[in-house]
Amino acid sequence: MKPGPALPLLPERASSIAGEVDALFFFILAVTLVFAVGISLALVYFAIRYRRRSEDERPAEIHGSLLLELTWTIIPLGIVVVMFAWGARVYFHMNRPPDDAMTVSVVAKRWMWKLQHPTGQREINELHVPVGRAVKLVITSEDVIHSFFVPAFRIKKDAVPGRYNTAWFRATKVGTYHLFCAEYCGTEHARMTGRVVVMEPEAYQTWLAGGPAPESPVAAGEKLFTELNCITCHRADSAGRGPVLQGLFGRAVKLTTGDTVVADETYVRESIVNPAAKVVAGYQPVMPTFQGQVSEEQLAALVAYIQSLQIPTEGAPASAGAPKP
Ligand code: CUA
Repeated sequence: MKPGPALPLLPERASSIAGEVDALFFFILAVTLVFAVGISLALVYFAIRYRRRSEDERPAEIHGSLLLELTWTIIPLGIVVVMFAWGARVYFHMNRPPDDAMTVSVVAKRWMWKLQHPTGQREINELHVPVGRAVKLVITSEDVIHSFFVPAFRIKKDAVPGRYNTAWFRATKVGTYHLFCAEYCGTEHARMTGRVVVMEPEAYQTWLAGGPAPESPVAAGEKLFTELNCITCHRADSAGRGPVLQGLFGRAVKLTTGDTVVADETYVRESIVNPAAKVVAGYQPVMPTFQGQVSEEQLAALVAYIQSLQIPTEGAPASAGAPKP
């Protein structure tokens, strides 16, 4: 990586979205500049040209101009509609992680970033990722609101206690990039920094293999699922008191209220800490809350485990109770 200028105007572009974000940013900047300069010059010119020259000067009355009003309505409207459509495109792109993305769990805490790879490796204030691979971040906080900000990737997402936010990126250049907390969170906020290390895929595999073999979040979640006795009610054969969880993740779920929700990370997490909030149709609100009994890391593991549960295949012992159509 060659050293950039001492005071760069823009951070490096190191993700697939960075170019799109910058193009939109420069378009809006250019439009703003054209109008700011144009209006300022016109202001000065009119102030001089139409200044009052004597005490008894009376200008001619003007009753408006339809053409002028249409012009200054339609042109700006066209420009903001372009900004909106373009902005929405980039926004949707930024907010829809590709299906093949690898999920990294991010837990913010005063004043550090705790990260975990899908294979189980944990890191603090440092994230190693392979170049060219889509990485989905599932972000939450243990205490106050923080914000996960990697300028070189043009991503910034709040870490909010009690919910999951997601962001994703595909790094395009090997290198080391700043990670900041972008939400004031107390005394050490300014020092809540870290780095993202983008590596060649082989180097990443070597990095993963170094150190002791960790327990994957799915395995940790499965263990917790048994330890916390979730397994007593959430049985695979639909004879339990709770809904069957196999094949649940990502599906639409009908609730007692008649509403439907998609069983995503946020819904599964909420159902563990506040089970009465959204009860599945046909079930009683009998599940106890696990608020305070499981840490954010354990919640993330449980969510990963539930996400991994597939509908048992034909012939498997549990298939008798697979969800009925
Ligand atoms: Cu965490 Cu600012």
